Amino acid sequence: MGNRGDDWKIRVNGASFRFAVAFPQRVAPAPSAPTGPRQPEERLAEARDRIREARSATGAPPLVLIHGFPLNHLVWTRVSRLTAEHVLTIRPNLRGFGELSSLEPFTIASLADDLHALLSQIGALPCVLAGLSMGGYVGLALAAAFPADVAGLALVDSRAAADSPEQREKRDPMIRQVRRSGVAPVVDGMLPGLLSPSTHRGNPSVVEELQRIMLDTAAPTIEHACIAMRDRPDLTDTATRIDVPAAIIVGAEDQLTTPQEATALAEAMKQCELSVLSGAGHISPLEQPERVAEALVRLVKRAS
Ligand code: MLT
Repeated sequence: MGNRGDDWKIRVNGASFRFAVAFPQRVAPAPSAPTGPRQPEERLAEARDRIREARSATGAPPLVLIHGFPLNHLVWTRVSRLTAEHVLTIRPNLRGFGELSSLEPFTIASLADDLHALLSQIGALPCVLAGLSMGGYVGLALAAAFPADVAGLALVDSRAAADSPEQREKRDPMIRQVRRSGVAPVVDGMLPGLLSPSTHRGNPSVVEELQRIMLDTAAPTIEHACIAMRDRPDLTDTATRIDVPAAIIVGAEDQLTTPQEATALAEAMKQCELSVLSGAGHISPLEQPERVAEALVRLVKRAS
């Protein structure tokens, strides 16, 4: 492993967004920071310079890892340590997630728009996007709106279809629950179904890590995300038209986005490699980080 990471904050579309960048070893370390406080513009210029340098040292587009719901960029930490041995890896927090950036409502399309603005400002476009579940909805929406900026796309435990009527019906009770009782009961209700039985049995540190990340989500963000996911459009047509290297990665025991659904989508897409990961449920970046990282590095190489 041994890559070096940095965290930055950037203001776009009226909110402040945190993003973590892991640089491959062969990219020179940052020059020692000048003493004294630095202005946000100086920090941003530093991020831009280092990203430009890393792009030219690796000859590959950056890999952008988009978290799911109700998570933040930390869900990708294990994968990012591995992918950054090979490629520049960027993990943003979406609006309202992680360190609180905004309590404004959002849609999946507006999350994609925020993300595009952030990546554009730091000089990270075109890039390869990899979205976990809700992050995949955002990745697809970004690909639909800005196709020229997407060099490759991975959907990880995710789907292109809109919510089915049954899925839509489950959103409103969650909204009522979070309004009434806060985040903890929502997390307790979701946690058992997110991970595979083998992770629950044999990997308590992953269960705890996931629970910690989920509990860090603000109640209004859970509400806004449920509405955004409930009302998102079907992007299956967009997915089947995408003509850049693509990957679908799914846990063999994913109960929310099943391997059957993922396989059907992979077959309908043009340049898609399918990976079905044993020992993983819906959060394969935490459950099988090595296998996920391998698939993503292969995707970036195909997209380079
Ligand atoms: C996620 O993991 O991001 C969510 O479960 C996605 C969803 O609820 O549709």
